[in-house]
Amino acid sequence: MCRGDSKLMPMADISLLIHDLDSAVTPAGTGGLRGRQFGELRVHSPASIAVSADRIVAVGPPDEVLREIPTDDEFQSVDGRGKVALPGLIDCHAHPAFLGDRAAEFELRSSGAGYEEIHASGGGIRSTVAATRAGSEEELRTAVERHLRWMLEHGTMTAEAKSGYGLDRETELKSLRAIRAAGEISPVDVYPTFLGAHTVPPEFEDAAGYVEFVIHDVLPEAAPLARFADVFLERGSFEAPEAKLYLQACREHGLALRLHADQFSERGAIPLAVEFRARSVDHLESTGEEGARLLAKSDVAAVLLPACGLFLDLPLPPARLLADEGAIVALATDFNPGSSFCESLPLVMNLACTRLRLTPAEALCACTANAAHVLGLQDVGRLAPGYRADVLLLDAPDWRHVAYHLGGDRFAAMIKSGRIL
Ligand code: NIG
Ligand code: FE
Repeated sequence: MCRGDSKLMPMADISLLIHDLDSAVTPAGTGGLRGRQFGELRVHSPASIAVSADRIVAVGPPDEVLREIPTDDEFQSVDGRGKVALPGLIDCHAHPAFLGDRAAEFELRSSGAGYEEIHASGGGIRSTVAATRAGSEEELRTAVERHLRWMLEHGTMTAEAKSGYGLDRETELKSLRAIRAAGEISPVDVYPTFLGAHTVPPEFEDAAGYVEFVIHDVLPEAAPLARFADVFLERGSFEAPEAKLYLQACREHGLALRLHADQFSERGAIPLAVEFRARSVDHLESTGEEGARLLAKSDVAAVLLPACGLFLDLPLPPARLLADEGAIVALATDFNPGSSFCESLPLVMNLACTRLRLTPAEALCACTANAAHVLGLQDVGRLAPGYRADVLLLDAPDWRHVAYHLGGDRFAAMIKSGRIL
């Protein structure tokens, strides 16, 4: 531990002790980690972690942690021998609020149909919109809860959840309410995003008319239910001028801004995001060198979604260039029914290492501290005193197994907000 770290928190009322871990591994820094700080870890080995209610109060050598615990305290204990502790993972880009199924579309793509082609002919996102509109709020809440459960099984303890499969007033509001209600029930902490500008629904002729409608008829009621706003800036959805109007209105309603951009083509998203001081630009599979350098110099985070890239067989985003030029790089699943039916951040970390050439340490920072930064959260993403006690116990001889073991994230235990799940 940092000696003295524990003194930042009163040591009374210990509720849980995770003792004699082989190691506890955490990003060293806080905030948006970039440059040399990105990938800098602090490894405590061996380690114990003391928890009081929902907070970590000490992390460090077992004898030091034990010495600081009041002897008359009664607390639960977890045997950490042979285990590695990591911070609970954070999925900063996910679309869990949908009904219906796109397995048939998946099969079509397996025989050569293109994702954009299916979208242009009225399928894709629009088929999920039809199914989501047709279901009740209760059904949608149950679906979000189920999807959050899947995410949690893979170590996600904090997640963003986007609307965007409603695209009418009633279903967008229903989606945001369902996300909030599911978040109340699920152990996963959920942060809702209004993705009112996901694509143009069938009842509108043009993108400009739809954006006008969203701004006037949906946003005023959606904004109080959400923390972020998001837009899909892409051919076939919204161009920069419409995205700009939408983002401007969302910002006036107090929402932090995110963009889906440069997925299939570059069309001015990065300069727009920088101008609007957006929280992040996500996808970036088509970003060229100039865009990458501009993003790297800015405070807008680059959220990479390698499971989506794999699912759609997209070109690789310039991950190494972004990281080397000092961008704030985060990773996420992009969990959704069409372009990334994948809820596993450990799998995303593996893809980041094998395909994007990030190191395991960078991948860990990207799914913890930097993902927290994208969501504007200061108390998750690290194992350190004062942080929320969201802890994964990995059943492996080395922390890198979280990324190395392809599809095999083996968690021996999960502790969420100080409670053993
Ligand atoms: O992030 N790019 C736009 N939205 C989602 C895909 C949505 C869908 O296909 O249902 C994405 O890839
Ligand atoms: Fe997405």
